[in-house]
Amino acid sequence: MPSVFVSRRIPEAGLKLLEGKFNVAVSKFDRVLTKKELIKGVKGKDALLCLLTDKVDAEVMDSSKNLKIIANYAVGIDNIDVMEATKRKIMVTNTPGVLTETVAEHAFALMLAIARRIVESDKFIRHGKYKAWAPMLLLGADLKGKTLGIIGLGRIGTAVAQRAVKGMGMNVIYYDMQRNESFEKEFNAKYASTDEILRNADFISIHVPLLPSTKHLIGYKQFLMMKKTAYLINTSRGPIIDEKALVRALKNKIIAGAALDVYENEPKLAPGLAKLDNIILTPHTASATIETRNKMAELAAQSIIDYFSGKTPQNVVNKEVLGK
Ligand code: DGY
Repeated sequence: MPSVFVSRRIPEAGLKLLEGKFNVAVSKFDRVLTKKELIKGVKGKDALLCLLTDKVDAEVMDSSKNLKIIANYAVGIDNIDVMEATKRKIMVTNTPGVLTETVAEHAFALMLAIARRIVESDKFIRHGKYKAWAPMLLLGADLKGKTLGIIGLGRIGTAVAQRAVKGMGMNVIYYDMQRNESFEKEFNAKYASTDEILRNADFISIHVPLLPSTKHLIGYKQFLMMKKTAYLINTSRGPIIDEKALVRALKNKIIAGAALDVYENEPKLAPGLAKLDNIILTPHTASATIETRNKMAELAAQSIIDYFSGKTPQNVVNKEVLGK
């Protein structure tokens, strides 16, 4: 029976699929493993089911000559040295598709919450400050009729755009490496450069993967290009935004607000970020619904099952290893 190391307990739905077919070792710690612990867990295993919090590099891969597949319990694969895996003919898979709508809903929850000052309002009441209805109390911004700029029109960016147009009556402008004319027609959306988006959007939602080319895509220079009334939402990966620059921009009211689910140095926050009122912070929970986390677990487990039954898993990241 092939062996699998699961680096942290995932929903039972996924573990059940593996049981009986593999020798499954699940990390005994319910926390992020240290490098040493990860290496120890992977030692001699045929497969690794890991999380976005595991840095899977050459050293980790070195710990098992038998390692054939790394199934990431996430869409983002920036935690894995995919080039190194490919060199070693180790397959890397991820979990796209099943979390699209859930992350899009979270991006929208953040957008509404920051625009309507929901977290500030909640604190205001809990601190006993609500004395009476008042014409100027906690004024926010409408979404209807506003322009949403989507940076990265993949599955999730598209799902956010659909909600914006159909659900909220917003206008959408977007940037992606690939223009999508049928999307433009269906949603009356406009293709724009990132600079045009920065200058014209009332809300900007980031949906690009973390790559060397997207690191610090949004820095102080970009904040200065944005409208003073604009809001920035990020549910993709933290390092895409220069977090120190964001603190400066929010402090100096260069933009109106931001809502983040991801951070540059997770779980650490840039100094001052958590002290600001014009930001909402969630702990990388955009995909955290019971349904979606079950589906992610099943999909990651199924990739391993498919690999060892000679089938091509649904979501192979490094297609170069196929047929080798
Ligand atoms: C992913 O899948 O990459 C997400 O960040 C997990 O929620």
